[in-house]
Amino acid sequence: MKKELRKVVIAGNWKMNMTPSQAKEAVKATAELTAGKNGCDVVLCVPFVDIAVAAEAACGTNVKIGAQNVHFEEKGAFTGEVSTSMLKEAGAEYVIIGHSERRQYFGETDETVNKRTKAALAAGLKVILCLGEVLEERQAGITAEIVSMQTKLDLAGISAEDLKNIIIAYEPVWAIGTGLTATPDQAEEVCAIIRNVVAGLYDTAAAEGLTIQYGGSMNDANAAELLSKVNVDGGLIGGASLVPEKFAKIVDAAQA
Ligand code: PGA
Repeated sequence: MKKELRKVVIAGNWKMNMTPSQAKEAVKATAELTAGKNGCDVVLCVPFVDIAVAAEAACGTNVKIGAQNVHFEEKGAFTGEVSTSMLKEAGAEYVIIGHSERRQYFGETDETVNKRTKAALAAGLKVILCLGEVLEERQAGITAEIVSMQTKLDLAGISAEDLKNIIIAYEPVWAIGTGLTATPDQAEEVCAIIRNVVAGLYDTAAAEGLTIQYGGSMNDANAAELLSKVNVDGGLIGGASLVPEKFAKIVDAAQA
């Protein structure tokens, strides 16, 4: 499959920002600024408490709403966690799983990422599965090994059919929130490695159909060049997604 035939997805990751009332305004503004920009899917992944209000504000627009995590159990004694059915009923269509901040600060492992991903897919949610190397790993020259291992472990036991509802976000941890961006060539190189691993796990068609985003300080100034790379099919955007005007410019850059 050619790059032009793959789905380009520009997703915002608001992280722990925006109260429900702020979310409502930001979703409305984003929807207005990105109206008719059908060259990519537009997603905003918001805090749990914002999902319902964000979904209502996004209704009838081209903005889709996602969550930033989900638990793998359906219900029970898991204080502080949220289930797939809760997300769906609140209006989420997407969920980010395995973000480096979850891995770094909240004990997320490839095993729990895999379990959460399976639960989300079983519930009919689309998954934005994040992986990427830390600075020490890049400096040690083991980026390819690290992302290959993460790809294999995170996708373990997931069918080719379910893979169609997964987006992989390659996010070099050293580039997240730091203002340091991977160069377009670095992003391309690692996204191609991931696609190659997926081809080995499934087949060429599955790998060619997979949307692979880049994430890590993507902004309105660098998006076009990153998105021009053949294996970069979109972006997962943190900081710049909080400002609708900046986020909309990234969506514009994805229209080509
Ligand atoms: P950033 O975050 O764009 O602020 O670097 C990206 C992410 O964490 O998904």
